[in-house]
Amino acid sequence: MKATAKANVNIALIKYWGKRDEELILPTNNSLSLTLDGLYTTTTVQFKEELTEDVFTLDGEKVTGVAFKRVTEFLNIIRKEAGKESLYAEINSKNDVPTAAGFASSASGFAALAAAASKAIGLNLSDEELSRITRRGSGSACRSIYGGFAEWQMGEKDDGSDSYAVPIAPRDHWDLRIAAVILTDKQKSVSSRDGMKRTVDSSAFFQGWVESNPADLEGIKEGIKARDFHKVGEIAEANCLKMHATTLAAKPPFTYWTDSTMKVMQEVQKMRADGIPAYFTIDAGPNVKLLYLPEYEETILERLKEISDVTEVILSRAGEGITYL
Ligand code: DP6
Repeated sequence: MKATAKANVNIALIKYWGKRDEELILPTNNSLSLTLDGLYTTTTVQFKEELTEDVFTLDGEKVTGVAFKRVTEFLNIIRKEAGKESLYAEINSKNDVPTAAGFASSASGFAALAAAASKAIGLNLSDEELSRITRRGSGSACRSIYGGFAEWQMGEKDDGSDSYAVPIAPRDHWDLRIAAVILTDKQKSVSSRDGMKRTVDSSAFFQGWVESNPADLEGIKEGIKARDFHKVGEIAEANCLKMHATTLAAKPPFTYWTDSTMKVMQEVQKMRADGIPAYFTIDAGPNVKLLYLPEYEETILERLKEISDVTEVILSRAGEGITYL
């Protein structure tokens, strides 16, 4: 009745941005990500007969309110699957993802929670089944089940039974590096959940985003297979720009970018003009992630440190999928 699992965050190279079903968390397009090393959540779940409700502790603090509700509602799905609807749990999570890094810790959080809870309650799930359940906690989390590159297949069915992630290439396939560039100016941003909803409901560019995604996905998969850095980088950067463009055409319009975000984006373009291969991607926040190859790490770090708005750079690479401790 007790299990501990560890899951890493992932960074999307083809973004998930839009739901066709908010309750079941079904996306409007496939997405593709790289699971990262060293940025993870470790979660222990213990089901206990004597409990009358779940108890959730994150980094040593008891969690209540909306965050607690999201966890306990997610556990309801697992309880239902196991046919043990009145069995509650103690959940202990530890986030080893610097909050400032702007990685969605909900991805590592829900992946670790799904893995630990399903194991503790006695469900013996395949990776595919685990990914499908994890999706219900947070969409992007369903990709963190796997190490290396993973694709979340949107599926077609209304019940979501064909919407889950599959592995594309293992972590040792290609030593692609990621630098998370942390910026000084923080702005209270629209959550990814609210941002994508507003985009789906009102963005004049949403249709174009959805329609152009299959070609990006096809191309990036070829690029990953061939370890073609420029192909992968160009597609990932363009896909990110398209995602962010949809927010500008939403009603009311919004953006996750700040002037510091723009400075880093421009610096990456300058790096390329100077013969340094680097590309960027950005999620639902101001921080920028750079894609690069190991031999350029030092040069890229030097260039980033020259930007006064940069407070920290966190380096990562391909990481492993779910592990049980
Ligand atoms: C911009 O997975 O956080 O990071 O399913 O509502 O929990 P919910 O959304 P979430 O969205 C992630 C959006 C993104 C792109 C991505 O990771 O693919």
